Amino acid sequence: MYRIQVKIIIIGLVLASVQFNFTSGNHDDFDKGKNPYQHQQTLDPNGAYKIEWEVNWKEKRVIFNVTVETKGYVGFGLSKKGKMSGADIVIGGVEPSGRVYFSDYHVPNGSRLPIKDASQDWILHTGWERNNHTFLSFSRKFETCDEENDLPITNDLLTLIWAYGEVDGQPQYHFQNRGGSDVYLLDAIYSTKAVDSIQEFNITRTLLLPEKETTYWCDFHKVPTKTKHHIIEFNPIFPTEQDRGHIHHYLLFRCVAPKGVDPEAIFGGPSRTGGRECYVQVEQGSLEWNYCNELIYVYAVGGKAVVFPEHVGMPMSESGTEYFMLQIHYDNINRIPNLSITSTVQMHYTSELREHDLGVLSVGEWVPGSPSIFLPPNATDHVIIGHCAPGCTQSFLPPEGINVVAALTHSHISGKGMRTLHFREDTELPWLVYDDNYNPNYQQFRMLREERKVLPGDQLSTRCLYDTTIMNGSTVAGGFSTRQEMCDTMIYYYNRILGNSFCLSQIRSREYYNLLGIGNITWNDQRKDLTISSPQQFAGLTMVEYGNEFVDWNIAFRKELQMHHLNQPHVSICPASLSGKIEHPASLPRNIARYAGPIRSQCSQIKKMGRGWSRS
Ligand SMILES: *[C@@H]1O[C@H](CO)[C@@H](O)[C@H](O)[C@H]1NC(C)=O
Ligand SMILES: *[C@@H]1O[C@H](CO)[C@@H](O)[C@H](O)[C@H]1NC(C)=O
Ligand SMILES: *[C@@H]1O[C@H](CO)[C@@H](O)[C@H](O)[C@H]1NC(C)=O
Ligand SMILES: *[C@@H]1O[C@H](CO)[C@@H](O)[C@H](O)[C@H]1NC(C)=O
Ligand SMILES: *[C@@H]1O[C@H](CO)[C@@H](O)[C@H](O)[C@H]1NC(C)=O
Ligand SMILES: *[C@@H]1O[C@H](CO)[C@@H](O)[C@H](O)[C@H]1NC(C)=O
Ligand SMILES: *[C@@H]1O[C@H](CO)[C@@H](O)[C@H](O)[C@H]1NC(C)=O
Ligand SMILES: *[C@@H]1O[C@H](CO)[C@@H](O)[C@H](O)[C@H]1NC(C)=O
Ligand SMILES: *[C@@H]1O[C@H](CO)[C@@H](O)[C@H](O)[C@H]1NC(C)=O
Repeated sequence: MYRIQVKIIIIGLVLASVQFNFTSGNHDDFDKGKNPYQHQQTLDPNGAYKIEWEVNWKEKRVIFNVTVETKGYVGFGLSKKGKMSGADIVIGGVEPSGRVYFSDYHVPNGSRLPIKDASQDWILHTGWERNNHTFLSFSRKFETCDEENDLPITNDLLTLIWAYGEVDGQPQYHFQNRGGSDVYLLDAIYSTKAVDSIQEFNITRTLLLPEKETTYWCDFHKVPTKTKHHIIEFNPIFPTEQDRGHIHHYLLFRCVAPKGVDPEAIFGGPSRTGGRECYVQVEQGSLEWNYCNELIYVYAVGGKAVVFPEHVGMPMSESGTEYFMLQIHYDNINRIPNLSITSTVQMHYTSELREHDLGVLSVGEWVPGSPSIFLPPNATDHVIIGHCAPGCTQSFLPPEGINVVAALTHSHISGKGMRTLHFREDTELPWLVYDDNYNPNYQQFRMLREERKVLPGDQLSTRCLYDTTIMNGSTVAGGFSTRQEMCDTMIYYYNRILGNSFCLSQIRSREYYNLLGIGNITWNDQRKDLTISSPQQFAGLTMVEYGNEFVDWNIAFRKELQMHHLNQPHVSICPASLSGKIEHPASLPRNIARYAGPIRSQCSQIKKMGRGWSRS
């Protein structure tokens, strides 16, 4: 038990008064850790480069404080996809005389060396050097309108790039120590400080990986409580980078015994066996898929701890003894023998119940089942979309709707851009979450700054943009391995609805199969993939083999495939609960006012107006 107090801070609502003064001096508060820092991160592996930042939503400005173990220069910047080329950076430091220097630079396309911007849009607030450390405090507006040389700060993923050197001034040849770290700068982040009642529950698993590319492993775990508690934080822990590197995702499910049956009798035995492979849910009647349908947590590559805001918690032991089922997707692409991989799902839970119970809903494409996800080779901008139909939300949401607090968009290595769309009657509401710089190796639950109500009859759709060039000219199909694709959003919402957690769609129409040129497809357990069952001439091929050998990927076909996927009806499979499977048709609503995306700035408008004037 911890002697602690829970304190949750939402970022972005508090603004420290900003002093636009170019000074150097002593700031003891910083050293004593008194500052109300809300976002903080150590950027380099040696702990020499620390950053703290705060979002001022009123001024649309981010304030950064950087502390680096150097007496030389400090470089900091923003980039897309971690590229130095095109990055927006600042270089600053404190000279031996105590003078603080600081300037706005950019790295031109195709270059690695920074050039000073004509328009200086980053503002230095203060800086000093002490005990071999340099401290700089500076800020940047989200938008500067210096479109050529600054990167806008948006809800999309950015890479913080950092560098430092031993001497002062602008580095002449190359940055000595440098790196990058992905971050959603504007997202809300909650932190758990402790309360008396907080306890810890770890599920740790060590597995000797089979010598194959993909392994899904499921095992059962008894929870430590017998009365209702709330889990308030999930934290993925990997003892080593090797452990982290071989785990693609995990899903944690709640297992519910049928009424009147002792959970012990069903799950007790299996919980003591160490688990087993569980590649797909084809095995009808298996414990895993019959009883463990309610998702409670998802980790995917790059994910960090999920800490819930203080009015919500994930229930545990609501009706006594309870079991969780953990499914881990391991990667062993190079089929390394004798590889033992360990990971822990750490949960913090409390008996001080919060106001609302959380549930998880997954919205997007159903995988596998139909060849609904079938992506052209070498495509740089192929879009697919999966729906939770209005008919589905009508069937399972309560009249007052649900409130979404966080969302994680999920695709595999070809994913390049993700959006979660929300439709109500003839309107498209703002995207729930979106990221046009999506990095499939940095998958985070994103806490919404404003909770979103989803009502019965609304439609939620996950839209995924893919770049399949990473697959070296291969066709890409939907599936469970890292090289196959998925397209979905995991949503944390309240109040929890009992039943399973999936509202996903696929295309099953004869027209679609005809377009692809195939008759039928079935799950092949040996190959752990879908294979074609008819027509005879293609029988036994996977969709990827078929796509690579028999499909003429001309421009017209690529376009038709895309149009069909976006415009023809999908079958949306509603959360089942015990009442059985319900399905509804769904497609991208047409002839409605589409949401045009977040309003970024007036910059381009001003520029366009400028051009107009000069012409007239
Ligand atoms: C900047 O520093 C000067 C000198 O210390 C002080 O007089 C002035 O009030 C400061 N300006 C702001 C905006 O804090
Ligand atoms: C940055 O440092 C300044 C000066 O010490 C301090 O007043 C401010 O609160 C800090 N802000 C952030 C976001 O860390
Ligand atoms: C600063 O660095 C120098 C040279 O590495 C070292 O001799 C000195 O002890 C350091 N000072 C502090 C306060 O750490
Ligand atoms: C740099 O390259 C990017 C992507 O290739 C392009 O969008 C951008 O306009 C280029 N910037 C300049 C200043 O040429
Ligand atoms: C849970 O696991 C973490 C990481 O291995 C460890 O630090 C912690 O002590 C464990 N907690 C319990 C209660 O076992
Ligand atoms: C794997 O482990 C087994 C048993 O410990 C051992 O016999 C075998 O030599 C190991 N193989 C490799 C390639 O290390
Ligand atoms: C594509 O080819 C490169 C170079 O041969 C290789 O390193 C990479 O792993 C391949 N990518 C995939 C997804 O197979
Ligand atoms: C994909 O691109 C690679 C490299 O540009 C090329 O060799 C290959 O033929 C292309 N494949 C297809 C199917 O377009
Ligand atoms: C596909 O399979 C279904 C069910 O197995 C069957 O009813 C249907 O006739 C098959 N269609 C074709 C074109 O083979």
